[in-house]
Amino acid sequence: MSMIWRNLVGSAALLALAACNQSTPTPAPEPVLDAQPELDIPAWPHGAMVAAADPRAVQAGLDVLAEGGHAVDAAIAVHAVLGLVEPQSSGLGGGAFMLVYLRESGETLVYDGRETAPAAATSELFIKDGEVMGFLPAWQSGRAVGVPGAVALYKAAHDVHGSSEWARLFAPAIELANEGFEVSPRLGGYLANERLRSVMRLDEPGSAAAAYFYPGDSPVAIGTKLQNPAYAEALSEVAALGPPAFYTGPRAQRIVAAVTEDAEPGAMTLDDLRDYTVELRPPLCGDYRNYTICSAPPPSSGGVTQPAIMGLYERIKGVPAGLNQLRDLGHWVNAQRLAYADRDHYVADPDFVPVPAADLINPDYLDARFQDVGDPARAEPPGDPGAVLARGPMIDLWGRDTTEEGGGTTHISIVDLEGNAVSMTATVESPFGNSVLVDGFLLNNELTDFARDPMKNGLPVANAPAGGKRPRSSMSPSFVFASDGELVMVTGSPGGNSIIAYVSKTLIGVLDWQMSAQEAIDLPNVIARGETVGVETSAPDGEIWAEHLRSEGYQVTERAGENSGLNVIVVREDGLEGGSDRRREGVALALAPPEPERELPAPESDN
Ligand code: DON
Repeated sequence: MSMIWRNLVGSAALLALAACNQSTPTPAPEPVLDAQPELDIPAWPHGAMVAAADPRAVQAGLDVLAEGGHAVDAAIAVHAVLGLVEPQSSGLGGGAFMLVYLRESGETLVYDGRETAPAAATSELFIKDGEVMGFLPAWQSGRAVGVPGAVALYKAAHDVHGSSEWARLFAPAIELANEGFEVSPRLGGYLANERLRSVMRLDEPGSAAAAYFYPGDSPVAIGTKLQNPAYAEALSEVAALGPPAFYTGPRAQRIVAAVTEDAEPGAMTLDDLRDYTVELRPPLCGDYRNYTICSAPPPSSGGVTQPAIMGLYERIKGVPAGLNQLRDLGHWVNAQRLAYADRDHYVADPDFVPVPAADLINPDYLDARFQDVGDPARAEPPGDPGAVLARGPMIDLWGRDTTEEGGGTTHISIVDLEGNAVSMTATVESPFGNSVLVDGFLLNNELTDFARDPMKNGLPVANAPAGGKRPRSSMSPSFVFASDGELVMVTGSPGGNSIIAYVSKTLIGVLDWQMSAQEAIDLPNVIARGETVGVETSAPDGEIWAEHLRSEGYQVTERAGENSGLNVIVVREDGLEGGSDRRREGVALALAPPEPERELPAPESDN
């Protein structure tokens, strides 16, 4: 395969792309890309596409692409608009993983803009008075706020790949924030949702969030035109000055004050913000039939789980004749159950704990692991790649995982006019994150993606908190490539720990069940983690699937109102095919390839 990680960065120092460590904007150091032979790459005939959670954001991205912008440029423009119109899901106050595929070199790069725990955090981050804090109190607290990575990620990726002017990328969001945007049914629905109001503190009297979202103590109604001048100002300053406008100076002081003056304060300091770094990581890739699936490595879970699920599914299923969804459903469920068990046990921040990421998708390990399929009515225990691959048993290095995860995330899929692509999942963790609005954006509560209880059965848990550590993520921004290295698919979704299952569904649907992107998205969601198998019975065929899995002995939990938000692009011979999850408000829109320049006939001579 041609999209191998080619020792992208020669020096370790370059792996960490500093957000800004001075008060003046410093471009992030450029990764040293291996010299590429002059290849005769045919022109990309398929046009461009953006699939994301809101049509206004998609249009901002398409406009950038139509001007010849890179997929990375478009992703920044899309995400800046989403931070305004879909504030419940992501924004400047959160983090993201961005996969970038460069068609000319065949490389895939991963920009890790995951939030970090403040330097002063310890494994006891969520221990209070000797007790592990409950999920909700921890969730809605200053302790849960991680150092945001989104703005630093924008800059790091733009410095390397951007072809549009930096400031231009923020113009659509700034204009919309100043002029006002129409509140969508989903945002308005969330604000009016009494159950959500009772567990969040978005409407806390006197707070900036309450003034913005609940003026006069009433939720802003669907269809209201809402202006956010503070967000416009924050973006204008980032457009003019780069990350220092966010990570240093008065804005950084306001972020730190919001965290440290919380009733349940966090320990974030100005140094934490100033020192935030984006990590450039190799993707993790694994094979499924003739395809290669690449996703984000730890501290995210996509790179381990997506290739693992597909690799296990292939092995469990064998080579039965013909297409038969019901027959294959249990195989997929088993593959998920094994892969979830492994990721729950082993995946954490690799800069802090040893994570056997490559081993978990090693074909020799998968050859052994698929034979572990056990009693459908019981949870699958994790496997031991160390024992299987003769590196020494490692299962008891860690206590069983205690992480609980919660719907504030979004996914963006983009292919540009040159055939480069971006798959980016961004988050503030729960809907509206920590509920604290600073300068028109919400702070995340990502640190509850750590295991709040750092020990289990006397053993440390791999995903326990620590100063500077990144909490494990389920985000799975992914690419699929054909055996000739050409891009086949861009996919990803929000949805907490169900993201893994949601994204996997699109891989099975498109690659194995030969469905269109939209058909695959419309399939019922099936989440097979632990003892139960959640089946979205509110979707067409969901009841049939649930009944079938019950008959095979699984403990089925019927689920409705799933929170997937898949945005998928599939490269077909005759062009790009997109799909966007009808469970949310997104769209996939295409841009036709530019007309080839025609040679003008020579002017006729007068004589
Ligand atoms: O990084 C993660 O895995 C979670 N913070 C994602 C949360 C999420 O997707 C909520 N979704 N709708």
